[in-house]
Amino acid sequence: MRKSLERKGSAPNDAVHLQRRVGLFSGVALIVGTMIGSGIFVSPSGLLVRTGSVGVSFIIWLACGLLSLLGALAYAELGTMNTSSGAEWAYFMDAFGPAPAFLFSWVSTLVLKPSQMAIICLSFAQYAVEAFVTECDPPTSVVKMVALLAIVMILFVNCYSVNLGMAVQNIFTAAKLVAVLIVICGGAWKLFQGNTQHLSNAFSGDTPTLGAVATAFYTGLWAYDGWNNLNYVTEEIKNPSKNLPRSIMIGIPLVTLCYALINISYLAAMSPTEMIDSEAVAVTFGNRILGALAWLMPLSVTVSTFGSANGTLFAAGRLCFAASREGHLMDILSYVHVRRLTPAPGLIFHSLIAAAMVLYGTIGSLIDFFSFTAWIFYGGAMLALIVMRFTKPNYPRPYKVPIIIPVVVLVISIYLVVAPIIDTPRIEYLYALLFILGGLIFYVPFVKLGMTPRFMNKVTLFFQLLLEVVPTSSMFE
Ligand code: ARG
Repeated sequence: MRKSLERKGSAPNDAVHLQRRVGLFSGVALIVGTMIGSGIFVSPSGLLVRTGSVGVSFIIWLACGLLSLLGALAYAELGTMNTSSGAEWAYFMDAFGPAPAFLFSWVSTLVLKPSQMAIICLSFAQYAVEAFVTECDPPTSVVKMVALLAIVMILFVNCYSVNLGMAVQNIFTAAKLVAVLIVICGGAWKLFQGNTQHLSNAFSGDTPTLGAVATAFYTGLWAYDGWNNLNYVTEEIKNPSKNLPRSIMIGIPLVTLCYALINISYLAAMSPTEMIDSEAVAVTFGNRILGALAWLMPLSVTVSTFGSANGTLFAAGRLCFAASREGHLMDILSYVHVRRLTPAPGLIFHSLIAAAMVLYGTIGSLIDFFSFTAWIFYGGAMLALIVMRFTKPNYPRPYKVPIIIPVVVLVISIYLVVAPIIDTPRIEYLYALLFILGGLIFYVPFVKLGMTPRFMNKVTLFFQLLLEVVPTSSMFE
């Protein structure tokens, strides 16, 4: 009973949810649209610094694409085997039980989703400000203020209406593809003119250490993050056992190809040193190649990043909503606005954490922190797949990957998490681990033993009145 009422509660999406409307084309679009965001416009310089040569960084770009593809194929098995929403949350629940599943929802609502939002909004701000400040590096405080402004605007859009959020998403996805095409065509034109000098001698430079390679992967993998996004909407996919793996097999190689071509384009227009020095590579690229139309570049990148941030908050709102409905977060976070039907408390909560991250973090540090934490859970999902092959051998598996794939991805994720700790121990990694395990302090009393402190009822009531939100079920009783 409760479930069906809740479906009505988030009407516009969940009505769609039941109709299986995502075919092959939309599946590919969902993957490509989420993956291409800020990374390809900010990460190339960072990757070059960490690897020390054009050749190694190019190989890492391709390797990140391959790793994302293998990870996503393993997720296709998980997603067609357990079709309920919540992706990792549902798989951990099946394979390891409620405590690890809780830790996942704890970390993703408090850290992973807000840090995605913070990184993308900071990249948005960097490009928006760079368009106006050409003489010197843009002041950090201005960049941060613009990033905060972006968070507020996206929060407003998503609290205002679900349809407005979706419309922003579609328009901005189209703009992102235009940005990608401009860079690729501009680069091709430069290459035809014979500007190939930065692509020769690609491997001259120092050999990077294993830890540096792992952190270079973090930078690259950020640009590919979102490869598991279709798993969050498995229930909406038509014929998922065919279309989920197919969308993955088309979408991820397509993004890899775009990223490879964009990297070549950047190098056709500037030297590796210029690329490293540039705060916003795509702007430098536009200034070199587009002449009077150079303004097109920062404009399309800001539009692309704004769209990604919007999609990320949209998804984050749903995650918060689902996790608190299962009793894994405060009740108030699952409430919806009484007239607008948007999960406003969850969205505001995420935006506040993202805003704090914008104030105290930098793009580079947030990306490292994000990738380190995210790959612990991606590795966990691989382990869940392997464990379930033994513990649930008879579960129907409409799509089955060769077991070597999750094993390889698991080994690589262990390397990605452990290598930077050993190579350059940083206190942030320890904080991240303590934070993940710290979730257990809340899990035992509040989830396992179901205790609710008395004052929580008052807090819930206060926010209900302030935000005009109600539990979804009460609206339809
Ligand atoms: N790959 C995207 C970028 O380069 C970030 C995607 C964030 N992840 C997500 N699931 N929304 O900006």
